[in-house]
Amino acid sequence: MSEVWIQPTGGALGADVHGVDLSKPVSEAAFRHIAAAWSEHLVLRFAGQRIDDHMLMQFSARFGPLDRVPIAAANFDRVDSGLTDDVREWVTVISSVVKDGKPVGGLGSYELVWHTDMSYNALPPRASLLYALEVPPDGGNTGFLNMFTAYETLAPELKRAVEGRTCIHDSSRNSAGELRKGFQRTLDVRRTPGAVHPLVRLHPMSKRKALFLGRRPGAYIHGLPVEESEALLDAVWAHATQEQFAWYQKWRGGDLVLWDNRCVMHRRDAFDESLRRLMHRTQIVGEPVLAG
Ligand code: OGA
Ligand code: MN
Repeated sequence: MSEVWIQPTGGALGADVHGVDLSKPVSEAAFRHIAAAWSEHLVLRFAGQRIDDHMLMQFSARFGPLDRVPIAAANFDRVDSGLTDDVREWVTVISSVVKDGKPVGGLGSYELVWHTDMSYNALPPRASLLYALEVPPDGGNTGFLNMFTAYETLAPELKRAVEGRTCIHDSSRNSAGELRKGFQRTLDVRRTPGAVHPLVRLHPMSKRKALFLGRRPGAYIHGLPVEESEALLDAVWAHATQEQFAWYQKWRGGDLVLWDNRCVMHRRDAFDESLRRLMHRTQIVGEPVLAG
């Protein structure tokens, strides 16, 4: 047995992991305990950590090979992210902090809409790990949605309507709606750039079915007239984003939060832009998306 113990949030998903210091190697027994808790609770919080980027990458890599960082927004002119050259390819800086008039990281202080990370890629990440170095006293909470229960509680006619359907996941904009470098605006959703994935996804480990939505703007259900696709997406999104499927993380410095990007969506509340919030994120390479 390991010294790890798990405390569920009591909400729709999420649990705290106690008894691990991520600045030290995590034993095989402790890791097995963590992996089992992750599979059950989908989002794990490791509070009170003090880790650098190498420790973050090392722990992240226990869940699979690290994925490369996403493409930055076109308006993002990185000056000094504080990252060393050896981690730059693997660690994303998410921050409101401005240094010499330029942001040190992406996504600023504004609201982020419900989304799945990098689902516009053919192999969307399996997991993301977000580590809080500096957080404001309040605001900037991150919500998580349980997409298993969202699927399981769909009305029978909606379940039938999404069955066997695929959806385009917009690669042109980030979760704040900003256009990425090298992309142009698309007005016709049938021409949205990005990967096409099944709307219902089979989780490769648990074999449970989850709704796999990515993000609402730019989405299009393949083969349907645009109005029908819009109406079906609106209905499915309205169902999936209900508070009963959500749990909100109120950040404290030293929190590391891990989520299963195959069955969890997330969003962020806006916060006062004059406040400092600095997070470092890693992402784990995913597997092909299995239709559910
Ligand atoms: C992310 C993300 C939310 C936050 O890093 O993928 O969506 O709270 N961040 O900053
Ligand atoms: Mn995200």
